[in-house]
Amino acid sequence: MPSREEIAYFGAGPSGLDNQIAVAASQAFLNYENSGLGLAEISHRSPEATKILADTKAALTQILEIPDNYEIILSHGGGSGQFSAIVFNMVAMWVEKRRRKAMEELDGDEGRVLERVMKEVRTQLRLDYILTGSWSLKASQEAAKLVEPLGKDIVNIVVDARKTSNKGKFDNIPEEGWNLTPNENYGNDESAFVYYCDNETVDGVEFPKFPPQLETKSDKERLIVADMSSNFLSRRVDVSKYAAIFGGAQKNIGITDITFVIIRKDILTTQPSNSFLHAVGIWSPPTILHYPTLSASSSLYNTMPIFSIWISLQITLLLLTTHHLSSPPLLGQEHLSHKKSSLVYTTLSAHPSIYNINVPHPACRSRMNICFRIKGGDEGAEKAFLKGAEERGLLGLKGHRSVGGVRVSCYNAVGVGKVERLCGWLGEFAEKEGRE
Ligand SMILES: Cc1ncc(COP(=O)(O)O)c(C=O)c1O
Repeated sequence: MPSREEIAYFGAGPSGLDNQIAVAASQAFLNYENSGLGLAEISHRSPEATKILADTKAALTQILEIPDNYEIILSHGGGSGQFSAIVFNMVAMWVEKRRRKAMEELDGDEGRVLERVMKEVRTQLRLDYILTGSWSLKASQEAAKLVEPLGKDIVNIVVDARKTSNKGKFDNIPEEGWNLTPNENYGNDESAFVYYCDNETVDGVEFPKFPPQLETKSDKERLIVADMSSNFLSRRVDVSKYAAIFGGAQKNIGITDITFVIIRKDILTTQPSNSFLHAVGIWSPPTILHYPTLSASSSLYNTMPIFSIWISLQITLLLLTTHHLSSPPLLGQEHLSHKKSSLVYTTLSAHPSIYNINVPHPACRSRMNICFRIKGGDEGAEKAFLKGAEERGLLGLKGHRSVGGVRVSCYNAVGVGKVERLCGWLGEFAEKEGRE
């Protein structure tokens, strides 16, 4: 039976855990701080749990440099749950902004206000989605399903990267042709939000930085929402550019069952009454997805997995101590993430007749999920590569079933040494194949 140290795990999620943290977690699971109870057993409202929750938020605020006008919500339901939560909460905010504007302009005449907002919902409500991979596609499909009763064209596909691909695949980030809903700053055209996925886990496409196409002048706001499930805490992020950022913990910052939502506080307070929402034809959010409720209860609206939260806390603290000499610390992790992915891409690029990287343009290649085919998708060669990898303790490398090939996930817990081991096998395999 191999030890943890012998295995280098490159799975796309859940990811492996730092060994030190896994060992400490096993102890905390059994008997937390000599209390005679494990962390999965204690009440989520106990003083221990309250402290873990508060410490986690504080550590996250420090490492991500989260400004004061943002709130951290911990939620269930994974990234997939947020595909719905974002729609419910952001559409409700759009309705409330329209209601307030109409109240001002129609001197508080509630009947006319209702009539006007109802009409605006039917004719002007738009949700902007940028499609660069399977996960943003899935999120847009969920949104379309939720708003379908309101009309067919509410989800606006800003851009679909498959259309600018030579292969009709998600393998690029189009620079031009973005059809964003015009933003008139609470005027008649503004979309409820603009959604994108910062790192597409399945396709290996990552935005190199905040999309310049979404930059706006200060008086023309766009509410930007980003799914950072698979590159969370792997680089610095200017949180102030976003209305909301979310990410499941299980790749870069823990184990499954926790989803982090970082949300601007004004979104929590710009929400209509349920009765107004219903009157304009929109469902109110299920309580478990309702950000103001989750925030008001300090993310303890219902039973939270304190054990999972504790692991995220340990990982964040480890990142802070590991990179305490970097200023800010996340810059240290950013350099490390770049180093790891560069090692793999450089090795792959050194053997172009063997390895074909799925994403042609280096600028949008993911640092987290490196996807490639072997000899143009030769089934025998790909099987042989994966078999040889397994024999060397290099696991979790099979590509997503919808894409095939090989996928190397270099999340935060994957150390440089493990990446070097993988590169050794990549080189060895390429030489062997090249000789045959
Ligand atoms: C980028 C991205 N978003 C969303 C999800 C969905 O996350 P979950 O499985 O936690 O619902 C995933 C899962 O891998 C993902 O990679």
